[in-house]
Amino acid sequence: MNDTILILDFGSQVTQLIARRLREEGVYTRILPCTAEADAITATSAKGIILSGGPNSVALADTPRAPGIVFELGVPLLGICYGQQTMCQQLGGLVEPGDEREFGRAEVTVSRGCRLFDGLWDEGNAYPVWMSHGDRVTAIPDGFDAVATSSGAPFAAIADEERGYYGVQFHPEVVHTPDGAGLLSRFAKVICGVEGDWSMAAYRERTVAAIRQQVGAEGKVICGLSGGVDSSVTAVLLHEAIGDRLTCVFVDHGLMRAGEAEEVIRLFGDHYNIPLIHKDAADLFLGRLADVSDPEQKRKIIGATFIDVFDQAAASIKGAGFLAQGTLYPDVIESVSATGGPSVTIKSHHNVGGLPEDMAFELVEPLRELFKDEVRALGRELGMPESLVGRHPFPGPGLAIRIPGDVTREKCNILRQADFIYLEEIRAAGLYDDIWQAFAVLLPVRTVGVMGDARTYECVCALRAVTSTDGMTADCYGFSHEFLSRTATRIVNEVRGINRVVYDYTSKPPGTIEWE
Ligand code: XMP
Repeated sequence: MNDTILILDFGSQVTQLIARRLREEGVYTRILPCTAEADAITATSAKGIILSGGPNSVALADTPRAPGIVFELGVPLLGICYGQQTMCQQLGGLVEPGDEREFGRAEVTVSRGCRLFDGLWDEGNAYPVWMSHGDRVTAIPDGFDAVATSSGAPFAAIADEERGYYGVQFHPEVVHTPDGAGLLSRFAKVICGVEGDWSMAAYRERTVAAIRQQVGAEGKVICGLSGGVDSSVTAVLLHEAIGDRLTCVFVDHGLMRAGEAEEVIRLFGDHYNIPLIHKDAADLFLGRLADVSDPEQKRKIIGATFIDVFDQAAASIKGAGFLAQGTLYPDVIESVSATGGPSVTIKSHHNVGGLPEDMAFELVEPLRELFKDEVRALGRELGMPESLVGRHPFPGPGLAIRIPGDVTREKCNILRQADFIYLEEIRAAGLYDDIWQAFAVLLPVRTVGVMGDARTYECVCALRAVTSTDGMTADCYGFSHEFLSRTATRIVNEVRGINRVVYDYTSKPPGTIEWE
């Protein structure tokens, strides 16, 4: 059992980054909502507690507060932004709305050394940090000293060395605070005495045990496979935990990339020997999509058809009470409600089109705490092939949202060939792993060209490639002129139906990654 640091979530958008930074330092963390019961907090046996930031104002009476138990456990505390403010207020300090709001890059000056800073930040020096606050602490509780200041926060960092209580107004968990990971690591390892021996191997072990406990000795689980990294890692993890009590369902909507459906069947059916139901439903999907051009309508039809087919397959698996999903942390927006009431709103984004709420399954979501690159690391830990683990994300509705306008089998085939050439060139140039996502789009626009001595009148293909860390924002990838012209030449020469290639330079925002 690894030592645990508990993070109490006050609703910040970046709470998971605290956990992530600590995992990078080998520290195991648990996250509970700030409304957690005392028993649940005690049960974590945490060696230290971090109070996260949050969107509320401590200056208002009905906003969340840290549960009293955190001050009774005798373990070190670190309050971040809202966490610092509520800690101060609850221990007898004062928090007021600041005249000067600080957002973005700022500087703090270390006014006094403390154990949080030792070896990292020196007295008298200034360091860059990332701030995001309106309120600020104006009087600190007894026992605390100011250890850093900023222009907008007289108490940018505070310390009560005797109790091991620390507070920072800035956000150490974001990359814009260059020494932030070091500060979090010092809090966990030096101040809380955590070993820092957590690893992906330990995560695997812990998660397998948790799955066994949730599912029980008899429980049966269904897992939908999409061919992507998340559902694949989920399936392999489940298989390790419960063996043949897992059945995978692969709904093949005919909107996959070249060779992908075959690969899913080969890997899961043959290599892993996992009971696999393969539903070849291309005709059904394409039939229902015929003559439909509206993007949202297309997504809705694909989602509903997916449910129909999946439902039917699931009904044939007798006695399955659980449904496994590869939901990742960025898919889960967990936030404390704006009123600070006890409810925690959870919005789950389902990987493949969305499943109906009345499905009589209990969800198993073993990747809920992880970011995409951590899922990849887990896949490698499970010994999964690099070609799968390192694969770019692929949307549930597949090629249908990369064919603006109506979707036909012929268009899918044309797009598949162009996409294959594009990715082959990217791999050959050694660029695949530098790119978050790259794909071709088949436009419903025909243009005139000349091939040999003949006039052509065929479709335009757009190429897209972006860099991103989470898919929420993205930048266009800057290929060389040579790369783009080589790829364009190959696509026009080798794919019948395309006679012009363009490159999409739009970032997100204002564009989205997919075209629909
Ligand atoms: P957008 O186009 O919104 O996409 O910038 C952001 C990321 O999400 C993927 N995406 C989806 N993934 N089901 C999915 O599983 C979907 O319906 C879906 N739509 C978009 C997209 O490929 C990108 O990685």
